Amino acid sequence: MKKGSTPKTAGMNPKPLASSPVQGLLGELSVEQFLQRHWQRKPLLVRSAIPEMLATVMVPPERLFEHAASDAVESRLVSQRGQATRRWSVEFGPFDALPSSRRRNWTVLVQGMDLVEDAAHKILQRFRFIPDARLDDVMISFATAGGGVGPHVDSYDVFLVQATGNRRWGIGPAPRPQWVEGLPLRILQNWEPTEIYDLGPGDMLYVPPGWGHDGVALDACTTWSIGFRTPSRHEFLSAWLGDQAELSADLTGTSRDDRFRDPKREPTAHPAQIPMDLRKTLHQWVEAWRTDERTRLATLDGFIGRHLSEPKAHIFFDPPGRPLSQKRFVQFASRHGVALDRRTRMLYDERHLFVNGEVDPVKPDRALRLLADQRAWTPSQSARILVNELITERVYSWYLAGWMLVTPAQLDTD
Ligand code: SIN
Ligand code: CO
Repeated sequence: MKKGSTPKTAGMNPKPLASSPVQGLLGELSVEQFLQRHWQRKPLLVRSAIPEMLATVMVPPERLFEHAASDAVESRLVSQRGQATRRWSVEFGPFDALPSSRRRNWTVLVQGMDLVEDAAHKILQRFRFIPDARLDDVMISFATAGGGVGPHVDSYDVFLVQATGNRRWGIGPAPRPQWVEGLPLRILQNWEPTEIYDLGPGDMLYVPPGWGHDGVALDACTTWSIGFRTPSRHEFLSAWLGDQAELSADLTGTSRDDRFRDPKREPTAHPAQIPMDLRKTLHQWVEAWRTDERTRLATLDGFIGRHLSEPKAHIFFDPPGRPLSQKRFVQFASRHGVALDRRTRMLYDERHLFVNGEVDPVKPDRALRLLADQRAWTPSQSARILVNELITERVYSWYLAGWMLVTPAQLDTD
């Protein structure tokens, strides 16, 4: 096949993930019914949503404690003293030691478990009827009896899955949330749950953003929170404007940033007064920054994809120690298949492919969209696609960066 041409990908159009929900995950509801009735609207309790959790401890507490001791993941320890006064304390990891499991009323919460624990990554794939761009992470918490983070609201959609032990959840609307003053965490005041559910292993509770919820461990238990981010206008605009500021330095043709200069400064009798020449320069920079409508629109989609595919700040990739040559890579891939590293965020729109916060130089043709949606190519797909030199070069460069693995991987959607 000639360089840059699109490989034939006949027979590679997998059925959309949304039409193949994992049986029982949403109880009696189809994905469509769940999205129409509950998503962003009202909670849903599903008994035995993930029944394997009854039989298997997927991430044992000891393993969670090891993660909490590492500085590669974010963790928090929330404890309460005095049941009546409910004095809360919050500490941030890494934790060399945690309180004794025999002590009541504490919980440790560890973020980003989908990136380091296969089981969490696999369970997460069942929720890919929601776009990846909305996904935040899987947090796992361990609590001793009485432990919890108190009644609160999240700005996130969250599926709370009980993995081991039992937890009592109180949930209810919180239309005008007020917070208890003087605490190190945001605890709702004057809020009463309208429903109470006891969750055991495998049970799941979906909580939309802005709903009050309070989970108290009935015994030592672990809870998985599958969280979906909802960017706010403020967050997005501040990121976009930051990006525009960098772009404006490039547009002026200066690779370096400009800096204010005042070689003709006269002595001042009013040192507190903001000097006019400084104000003038700052005004000029703002005036000169305004990009025209066309430039702004041309760069916006690129920015959206870069922003949404950006891994979190503490994420690092591990390039292969002794990388295969490109030729061997293609041979291996054709034999075993390829898979995106768990940490890789790959998204696309009609014109761009985004990988880990970068716009990739290749366009998202059918084969690359398949890779992003499946997060893998089977051996036969790899063999068929990797005759295209342009795609092979890109995929090989992702392999060298540690973004992609040649592996006898099962498809995540299996
Ligand atoms: C927890 O796991 O204790 C808290 C989860 C949540 O409320 O979002
Ligand atoms: Co919450």
